[in-house]
Amino acid sequence: MELVFASNNKHKLEEAKALMGTGCTILSLSDIGCHDEIPEDKPDLVGNALQKAHYIYQKYHRDCFSDDTGMEIEALNGRPGVYSARYAGAQCSFEDNMNKVLEEMQPFTNRKACFRTVIALIMEGKEYLFEGRVDGIILREEQGKQGFGYDPIFQPSGYNISFAEMDLNEKNAISHRGRALEKLCRFLKAQNV
Ligand code: IMP
Repeated sequence: MELVFASNNKHKLEEAKALMGTGCTILSLSDIGCHDEIPEDKPDLVGNALQKAHYIYQKYHRDCFSDDTGMEIEALNGRPGVYSARYAGAQCSFEDNMNKVLEEMQPFTNRKACFRTVIALIMEGKEYLFEGRVDGIILREEQGKQGFGYDPIFQPSGYNISFAEMDLNEKNAISHRGRALEKLCRFLKAQNV
Protein backbone atom coordinates (compact mmCIF):
# COMPACT_ATOMS: atom_id res chain seq x y z
CA MET A 1 0.00 0.00 0.00
CA GLU A 2 1.12 3.58 -0.68
CA LEU A 3 0.48 6.23 1.92
CA VAL A 4 1.38 9.90 1.62
CA PHE A 5 3.02 11.44 4.68
CA ALA A 6 2.07 15.13 4.41
CA SER A 7 5.56 16.32 5.23
CA ASN A 8 8.83 17.25 3.57
CA ASN A 9 10.79 17.12 6.83
CA LYS A 10 13.49 14.55 6.01
CA HIS A 11 13.93 13.59 9.66
CA LYS A 12 10.23 12.84 10.10
CA LEU A 13 10.16 10.88 6.84
CA GLU A 14 13.18 8.81 7.91
CA GLU A 15 11.56 8.11 11.29
CA ALA A 16 8.31 7.00 9.63
CA LYS A 17 10.03 4.82 7.01
CA ALA A 18 12.19 3.12 9.67
CA LEU A 19 9.14 2.31 11.79
CA MET A 20 6.59 1.39 9.18
CA GLY A 21 8.75 -1.24 7.46
CA THR A 22 8.24 -2.68 4.03
CA GLY A 23 4.50 -3.39 4.07
CA CYS A 24 3.68 0.23 3.39
CA THR A 25 5.42 2.62 0.97
CA ILE A 26 5.65 6.11 2.42
CA LEU A 27 5.57 8.97 -0.10
CA SER A 28 6.62 12.51 0.79
CA LEU A 29 4.90 15.65 -0.48
CA SER A 30 7.62 16.12 -3.12
CA ASP A 31 7.10 12.51 -4.24
CA ILE A 32 3.52 13.43 -5.23
CA GLY A 33 4.58 16.80 -6.72
CA CYS A 34 3.15 18.91 -3.94
CA HIS A 35 5.18 22.04 -3.18
CA ASP A 36 2.36 24.04 -1.59
CA GLU A 37 2.65 25.92 1.67
CA ILE A 38 -0.02 23.85 3.44
CA PRO A 39 -2.05 25.90 5.91
CA GLU A 40 -1.45 25.06 9.56
CA ASP A 41 -3.32 27.76 11.47
CA LYS A 42 -5.53 25.90 13.95
CA PRO A 43 -5.24 26.51 17.70
CA ASP A 44 -4.32 22.91 18.61
CA LEU A 45 -2.39 19.85 17.41
CA VAL A 46 -5.50 17.87 16.42
CA GLY A 47 -6.81 20.78 14.33
CA ASN A 48 -3.50 21.25 12.51
CA ALA A 49 -2.96 17.54 11.86
CA LEU A 50 -6.49 17.21 10.40
CA GLN A 51 -6.12 20.40 8.38
CA LYS A 52 -2.92 19.15 6.68
CA ALA A 53 -4.26 15.64 5.98
CA HIS A 54 -7.57 16.93 4.56
CA TYR A 55 -5.73 19.41 2.34
CA ILE A 56 -3.78 16.58 0.68
CA TYR A 57 -6.73 14.19 0.49
CA GLN A 58 -8.95 16.80 -1.15
CA LYS A 59 -6.33 17.97 -3.65
CA TYR A 60 -4.67 14.66 -4.57
CA HIS A 61 -7.33 12.07 -3.66
CA ARG A 62 -4.72 9.85 -2.01
CA ASP A 63 -4.80 8.14 1.36
CA CYS A 64 -2.51 10.14 3.58
CA PHE A 65 -1.49 11.04 7.09
CA SER A 66 0.03 14.10 8.68
CA ASP A 67 1.49 14.81 12.07
CA ASP A 68 1.60 17.83 14.29
CA THR A 69 3.90 18.02 17.27
CA GLY A 70 4.33 20.38 20.17
CA MET A 71 6.79 20.57 23.04
CA GLU A 72 5.01 21.58 26.25
CA ILE A 73 7.02 22.95 29.17
CA GLU A 74 5.43 22.91 32.62
CA ALA A 75 7.19 26.02 33.98
CA LEU A 76 6.16 27.96 30.85
CA ASN A 77 2.47 27.00 31.23
CA GLY A 78 2.63 24.60 28.28
CA ARG A 79 4.54 26.86 25.87
CA PRO A 80 5.76 26.63 23.15
CA GLY A 81 3.08 23.93 22.51
CA VAL A 82 1.27 24.38 19.22
CA TYR A 83 3.66 27.29 18.44
CA SER A 84 6.79 25.10 18.66
CA ALA A 85 7.80 25.57 15.00
CA ARG A 86 7.90 29.37 15.06
CA TYR A 87 8.46 30.10 18.73
CA ALA A 88 11.23 32.65 18.09
CA GLY A 89 9.47 34.29 15.11
CA ALA A 90 8.25 33.70 11.57
CA GLN A 91 11.53 32.82 9.83
CA CYS A 92 13.35 31.42 12.85
CA SER A 93 15.72 28.43 12.86
CA PHE A 94 15.76 25.43 15.22
CA GLU A 95 18.72 27.15 16.90
CA ASP A 96 16.71 30.38 17.47
CA ASN A 97 13.86 28.38 19.03
CA MET A 98 16.19 26.46 21.34
CA ASN A 99 17.95 29.65 22.43
CA LYS A 100 14.64 31.28 23.28
CA VAL A 101 13.55 28.26 25.35
CA LEU A 102 16.93 28.03 27.13
CA GLU A 103 16.79 31.71 28.00
CA GLU A 104 13.19 31.60 29.25
CA MET A 105 13.98 28.48 31.29
CA GLN A 106 17.07 29.93 32.96
CA PRO A 107 15.33 30.91 36.27
CA PHE A 108 13.46 27.62 36.66
CA THR A 109 14.50 24.51 38.55
CA ASN A 110 11.33 22.74 37.42
CA ARG A 111 12.55 21.52 34.01
CA LYS A 112 9.63 19.14 33.26
CA ALA A 113 8.44 18.99 29.65
CA CYS A 114 6.83 16.66 27.19
CA PHE A 115 6.47 16.21 23.46
CA ARG A 116 3.05 15.37 22.08
CA THR A 117 2.33 14.24 18.54
CA VAL A 118 -1.05 13.88 16.90
CA ILE A 119 -1.25 11.91 13.66
CA ALA A 120 -4.31 12.33 11.45
CA LEU A 121 -4.93 9.59 8.90
CA ILE A 122 -7.44 9.94 6.08
CA MET A 123 -8.16 6.59 4.48
CA GLU A 124 -10.93 6.12 1.93
CA GLY A 125 -12.38 9.43 3.07
CA LYS A 126 -12.59 8.54 6.77
CA GLU A 127 -10.43 10.25 9.42
CA TYR A 128 -8.59 8.57 12.29
CA LEU A 129 -6.41 10.09 15.04
CA PHE A 130 -3.41 8.60 16.88
CA GLU A 131 -1.50 10.26 19.71
CA GLY A 132 1.94 9.75 21.23
CA ARG A 133 3.66 11.41 24.17
CA VAL A 134 7.04 11.32 25.84
CA ASP A 135 7.93 13.01 29.14
CA GLY A 136 11.32 14.42 30.04
CA ILE A 137 13.23 17.53 31.03
CA ILE A 138 14.73 20.59 29.35
CA LEU A 139 18.52 20.54 29.65
CA ARG A 140 20.51 23.67 30.53
CA GLU A 141 22.48 23.54 27.27
CA GLU A 142 22.46 21.73 23.94
CA GLN A 143 23.75 18.15 23.90
CA GLY A 144 24.26 16.10 20.74
CA LYS A 145 23.99 16.71 17.02
CA GLN A 146 21.49 14.16 15.68
CA GLY A 147 17.78 14.58 15.04
CA PHE A 148 16.19 18.00 14.61
CA GLY A 149 14.15 20.72 16.30
CA TYR A 150 14.45 20.74 20.07
CA ASP A 151 16.18 17.32 20.22
CA PRO A 152 19.50 18.69 21.66
CA ILE A 153 17.79 20.23 24.72
CA PHE A 154 15.26 17.46 25.49
CA GLN A 155 16.23 14.52 27.70
CA PRO A 156 13.56 11.81 27.96
CA SER A 157 12.72 10.42 31.41
CA GLY A 158 14.85 7.42 32.40
CA TYR A 159 17.80 8.47 30.20
CA ASN A 160 20.85 10.64 30.80
CA ILE A 161 21.30 11.61 27.16
CA SER A 162 19.29 13.95 24.93
CA PHE A 163 17.26 12.90 21.89
CA ALA A 164 20.08 14.39 19.77
CA GLU A 165 22.52 11.86 21.27
CA MET A 166 20.36 8.88 20.28
CA ASP A 167 20.34 7.07 16.96
CA LEU A 168 17.15 6.95 14.94
CA ASN A 169 15.94 3.57 16.23
CA GLU A 170 16.62 4.45 19.85
CA LYS A 171 14.66 7.71 19.55
CA ASN A 172 11.84 6.06 17.60
CA ALA A 173 11.36 3.38 20.29
CA ILE A 174 10.39 5.94 22.93
CA SER A 175 9.53 9.19 21.17
CA HIS A 176 6.18 10.96 20.84
CA ARG A 177 6.13 10.43 17.05
CA GLY A 178 7.42 6.87 17.34
CA ARG A 179 4.57 6.01 19.71
CA ALA A 180 1.94 7.67 17.53
CA LEU A 181 3.36 5.94 14.42
CA GLU A 182 3.27 2.61 16.20
CA LYS A 183 -0.45 3.08 16.88
CA LEU A 184 -0.94 3.97 13.22
CA CYS A 185 0.94 0.80 12.16
CA ARG A 186 -1.14 -1.38 14.47
CA PHE A 187 -4.30 0.13 13.02
CA LEU A 188 -3.15 -0.46 9.43
CA LYS A 189 -2.21 -4.06 10.23
CA ALA A 190 -5.65 -4.67 11.77
CA GLN A 191 -7.17 -3.40 8.49
CA ASN A 192 -4.93 -5.86 6.60
CA VAL A 193 -3.17 -2.98 4.90
P1 IMP B 1 5.57 20.15 13.45
O1 IMP B 1 4.58 21.27 13.26
O2 IMP B 1 4.94 18.84 13.68
O3 IMP B 1 6.59 20.10 12.36
O4 IMP B 1 6.40 20.43 14.78
C1 IMP B 1 6.60 21.73 15.26
C2 IMP B 1 7.99 21.90 15.76
O5 IMP B 1 8.21 21.04 16.87
C3 IMP B 1 9.10 21.59 14.77
O6 IMP B 1 9.40 22.68 13.97
C4 IMP B 1 10.25 21.24 15.68
O7 IMP B 1 10.88 22.41 16.12
C5 IMP B 1 9.54 20.61 16.87
N1 IMP B 1 9.57 19.15 16.77
C6 IMP B 1 8.69 18.33 16.16
N2 IMP B 1 9.06 17.05 16.30
C7 IMP B 1 10.22 17.07 17.00
C8 IMP B 1 11.10 16.05 17.44
O8 IMP B 1 10.93 14.84 17.20
N3 IMP B 1 12.18 16.46 18.14
C9 IMP B 1 12.43 17.77 18.41
N4 IMP B 1 11.65 18.75 18.00
C10 IMP B 1 10.54 18.41 17.30
